[in-house]
Amino acid sequence: MSASTGREMRFLSSLLFAYCLCLSFVSSQVTLLPNDTVSVCEGEIQAITCNVTGSVLIWDDGNNSTSFSSGNTIPAELGPFHLVLLSHNNGTVVSVATVNVSTSINESTLECRNTGFKNSSIRQQISFNVKHSVPMTYFKVDAVSSDTLLISWAGADCIQSYDVFTNGTNVNTTSGMSLLYNTGGAIGSIDVLVNSVDYYGSAVGNLSIQYQFNKYDFEVEAIISDNMSLVIIIKDNYINQQPAPLSCELTVANLTQSSVDCLSKRLFVFTNVTEGVVYNYTVTITNVVESAVKNGSIVLEQTCPSQTRYFCSTLLASDFQESCITSTTSQSTSPSQTNTNESGGSNCVIPWIVGLITGTVVVSLLI
Ligand SMILES: *[C@@H]1O[C@H](CO)[C@@H](O)[C@H](O)[C@H]1NC(C)=O
Ligand SMILES: *[C@@H]1O[C@H](CO)[C@@H](O)[C@H](O)[C@H]1NC(C)=O
Ligand SMILES: *[C@@H]1O[C@H](CO)[C@@H](O)[C@H](O)[C@H]1NC(C)=O
Ligand SMILES: *[C@@H]1O[C@H](CO)[C@@H](O)[C@H](O)[C@H]1NC(C)=O
Ligand SMILES: *[C@@H]1O[C@H](CO)[C@@H](O)[C@H](O)[C@H]1NC(C)=O
Ligand SMILES: *[C@@H]1O[C@H](CO)[C@@H](O)[C@H](O)[C@H]1NC(C)=O
Ligand SMILES: *[C@@H]1O[C@H](CO)[C@@H](O)[C@H](O)[C@H]1NC(C)=O
Ligand SMILES: *[C@@H]1O[C@H](CO)[C@@H](O)[C@H](O)[C@H]1NC(C)=O
Ligand SMILES: *[C@@H]1O[C@H](CO)[C@@H](O)[C@H](O)[C@H]1NC(C)=O
Ligand SMILES: *[C@@H]1O[C@H](CO)[C@@H](O)[C@H](O)[C@H]1NC(C)=O
Ligand SMILES: *[C@@H]1O[C@H](CO)[C@@H](O)[C@H](O)[C@H]1NC(C)=O
Ligand SMILES: *[C@@H]1O[C@H](CO)[C@@H](O)[C@H](O)[C@H]1NC(C)=O
Repeated sequence: MSASTGREMRFLSSLLFAYCLCLSFVSSQVTLLPNDTVSVCEGEIQAITCNVTGSVLIWDDGNNSTSFSSGNTIPAELGPFHLVLLSHNNGTVVSVATVNVSTSINESTLECRNTGFKNSSIRQQISFNVKHSVPMTYFKVDAVSSDTLLISWAGADCIQSYDVFTNGTNVNTTSGMSLLYNTGGAIGSIDVLVNSVDYYGSAVGNLSIQYQFNKYDFEVEAIISDNMSLVIIIKDNYINQQPAPLSCELTVANLTQSSVDCLSKRLFVFTNVTEGVVYNYTVTITNVVESAVKNGSIVLEQTCPSQTRYFCSTLLASDFQESCITSTTSQSTSPSQTNTNESGGSNCVIPWIVGLITGTVVVSLLI
């Protein structure tokens, strides 16, 4: 190799070096993901990736710094941050910092740069806003079909997952805020409990509901009022029943041609009652579980002296031995079960009507 070619080589390489320096100066980039101020949860493992176009990558936590390059590839610790070199190829250096988030990094800043000289460097920063875990504060159960409950909750922060229990059994663990639960056909009382689990894996709070997953529970009462009208009253056995009724139908044979909607109204007065007629009434209330049916009969006896009609509504608890009315036979039926709740009910009934009604009960029990 001659002296002149050596000089040319040196010249070329210094030109190349200047070019590379110029290139890196012009196009060097530092990309930090995430960057700026980020909200992070206690116990969460947060990863921050820095990508530098250049040959050196420097992490700085404000107290100390660590650099990565082709000559410096060993993982390092910087305060609570664990730093690893991902790659150093084709003029880019990529590194990841991971931290087990705790209050110690609250409001602290981590910086990624392309040179050791802070002031002349290109840099990006991330600041941490550490949040505590807050368990859910709102909880709700709704029936969406005859075998499915929608369990939903809200008001939580920095919760990693929720453990959902029904009747004490963990049926799902989810990071979402709701769950469709299949009851497998079970009805009745279902205990639903949801546990909030933080990023350390600890249960930090729970809410529970005892959900009554039943068909609608109600009674029907029929009376003849003093002015010769038939009054039908639908009475809920519980306030605020769930699942809510989807429909309610009232039919009174020989009084109404078609069924009457009783979803919002619960008291019906029929004035076109005829003496001596047995009126059969049926109330059907349907919710997502199934339809509940209550029916019965009411008789307006025509042999009553007209003035005795008055006490039927007012003196049901009195000791009159003879009166014009009234008795209701109430029976509940459903596709799956039949039970006779109640019969009877009044001390203002003449003996043969009692016989008639008892017969009705017996007949209806037999069928
Ligand atoms: C900052 O983060 C956002 C996403 O959070 C990203 O789109 C953007 O490129 C980042 N900026 C820099 C300069 O790294
Ligand atoms: C780093 O940045 C370069 C240039 O912006 C890009 O080509 C490369 O895919 C990035 N690498 C990673 C791991 O993000
Ligand atoms: C910087 O790091 C060294 C070694 O890792 C440590 O001994 C020193 O205490 C750190 N300095 C500060 C200010 O945290
Ligand atoms: C920097 O050092 C001080 C004193 O050692 C310490 O209190 C602080 O937490 C450190 N900052 C970081 C980001 O590690
Ligand atoms: C570097 O770049 C060259 C050409 O652009 C490509 O063939 C090679 O696969 C790259 N190396 C890596 C590790 O990405
Ligand atoms: C994060 O820190 C907590 C408390 O110091 C510790 O119990 C947990 O094991 C750590 N998690 C990881 C993944 O290092
Ligand atoms: C982090 O600092 C902010 C601002 O000082 C404060 O409101 C917040 O409660 C702190 N977080 C934790 C987890 O202590
Ligand atoms: C938990 O719920 C999700 C969403 O409804 C479902 O995809 C998953 O299969 C369920 N897991 C179990 C164990 O039931
Ligand atoms: C939960 O338990 C109640 C009685 O304790 C039972 O009636 C109900 O069917 C059970 N529900 C499920 C989904 O197992
Ligand atoms: C009641 O209705 C039935 C069938 O709808 C009918 O056969 C019967 O005659 C009616 N009774 C009276 C008293 O109107
Ligand atoms: C009886 O009265 C009700 C309303 O009070 C009405 O809907 C029904 O059609 C009447 N029935 C007859 C047979 O007139
Ligand atoms: C009323 O009900 C009784 C017994 O439930 C039945 O025998 C009778 O036929 C019914 N009457 C009408 C008009 O539906």
